[in-house]
Amino acid sequence: TNARTPLMAANWKMHLSVAEAISFIAALHERVGSSQDREVLIAPPFTHLWPLRETMAAAGFSLAAQNCHWEPQGAFTGEVSLSMIRETGCRYVIVGHSERRHIFGEPDEWIGLKTAAALARGVVPIVCIGEKIEEREAGLTEEVLQRQLTAALDKVSVPSADALVIAYEPVWAIGTGKTATPQQAQEAHAFVRQWLEKRFDKAVANGVRILYGGSVKPDNVDDLMAQPDIDGALVGGASLKASSFARIVQFTR
Ligand code: G3P
Repeated sequence: TNARTPLMAANWKMHLSVAEAISFIAALHERVGSSQDREVLIAPPFTHLWPLRETMAAAGFSLAAQNCHWEPQGAFTGEVSLSMIRETGCRYVIVGHSERRHIFGEPDEWIGLKTAAALARGVVPIVCIGEKIEEREAGLTEEVLQRQLTAALDKVSVPSADALVIAYEPVWAIGTGKTATPQQAQEAHAFVRQWLEKRFDKAVANGVRILYGGSVKPDNVDDLMAQPDIDGALVGGASLKASSFARIVQFTR
């Protein structure tokens, strides 16, 4: 059985004002409370982190940044460091999201640098990986996942299983309304877990939470969460309304 605490994560991308975010958090908390058996996480835009920190802490929700730079400081206009992120009360940072990779051209190498820097500074990286449709159709899914995992995690050490989260987000399922079937997702998650065991050890592989992302909705979350290696969801579109995200948080297995 699965002893990992489910992690239900909202990736707001570039949506919602601070005022909207504050009402969202109140509405979500009213619906889901501060449950001990599942972790609720919100990744808002950078400008929202500091103003939301107290409301989020009071609700018992975890705060994440959507991106980071790996250098501790310097002349990097427009970038935000991990110590700045930590100062806002974030425990987590999303690294290597598909939109960062494909719209902004982030190479694998940067994702490795960001992952290593987050681990070194005590911010839990949520490392996103996932294949494009043409890669899946060419039978290259595992090869792509392996390449992305290696680039992100080859040079790091992971002090404990709760220091790292992986998100499997097939590019063809993001924002398309096309969800991976529970079986497709489970296969990819099992592959990731095997890779973690080879790279680290059994304790890390068994303990690291692997989230699924890509058109997660209230009506498909239960079937996805029923899979043995799916430990949570990283939700875009359906995380923008408190009522639908609340239903996702309240999945049943
Ligand atoms: O990070 C979550 C995301 O990329 C999935 O987006 O809108 O398909 O839930 P969406």
